[in-house]
Amino acid sequence: MFNVILFGPPGSGKGTQSEKLVDRYGLIHLSTGNLLREEITNRTALGLEAKKYMDSGQLVPDAVVIGMIRSAIKNNPDAEGFLFDGFPRTVAQSVALDELLAENHSEINAVLALEVSESELIERLLNRGKTSGRSDDVNQEIIRARILEYENKTSPVAGYYDQFGKMVKLKGEGDVESIFEALCNEIEAKKLV
Ligand code: AP5
Ligand code: MG
Repeated sequence: MFNVILFGPPGSGKGTQSEKLVDRYGLIHLSTGNLLREEITNRTALGLEAKKYMDSGQLVPDAVVIGMIRSAIKNNPDAEGFLFDGFPRTVAQSVALDELLAENHSEINAVLALEVSESELIERLLNRGKTSGRSDDVNQEIIRARILEYENKTSPVAGYYDQFGKMVKLKGEGDVESIFEALCNEIEAKKLV
């Protein structure tokens, strides 16, 4: 198995690049944000609970997202690998993910981090908010709250993977194709290890 985490702040391009990467490498795309939005659309109890946090730009509790990832891994026993998008977002989630993968005699092979300036993040998300219908894209206040959650709770995840030499930082600004090629180069390099 080959497992990759696409890491970065809200609006850094994780979703955009994930779609291209799963196409090229045949990985299963696991986006906790997408899974949570599906739960909201289906009006499940989990979705209703999660919506309270998501609408204000806060992280959903660890136990909720870890449970979703556990089921998703279980439901894909023949996967050649997973691409995690927007997960893990806390150190506790990272530790849980390592344990889940170890149960399958597998591990995270690479963490690719997209670096984008705060002003560009805000501009991208406000712009998307005009058409996306995402309740957390509607105003600067919520977008700033998401970025603050990232700085406080998610950025330590980078240090967690850095201690294992798995962290690779890339420029997330510029055209989508060049960023994609840079990500592919890193994956090819890690595959050879
Ligand atoms: P989630 O859905 O994961 O959202 P996010 O991380 O806040 O980020 P986005 O999906 O908005 O951005 P992205 O990096 O995917 O960028 P995209 O490609 O879309 O999470 C939503 C919420 O769910 C969280 O706030 C939290 O409440 C909850 N949640 C989810 N996972 C959780 C977890 N693990 N733990 C706890 N809570 C969790 O691009 C953004 C925009 O920019 C698009 O319009 C795109 O077209 C554009 N764009 C992309 N690339 C470029 C480029 N190179 N140049 C110009 N524009 C670009
Ligand atoms: Mg996304």
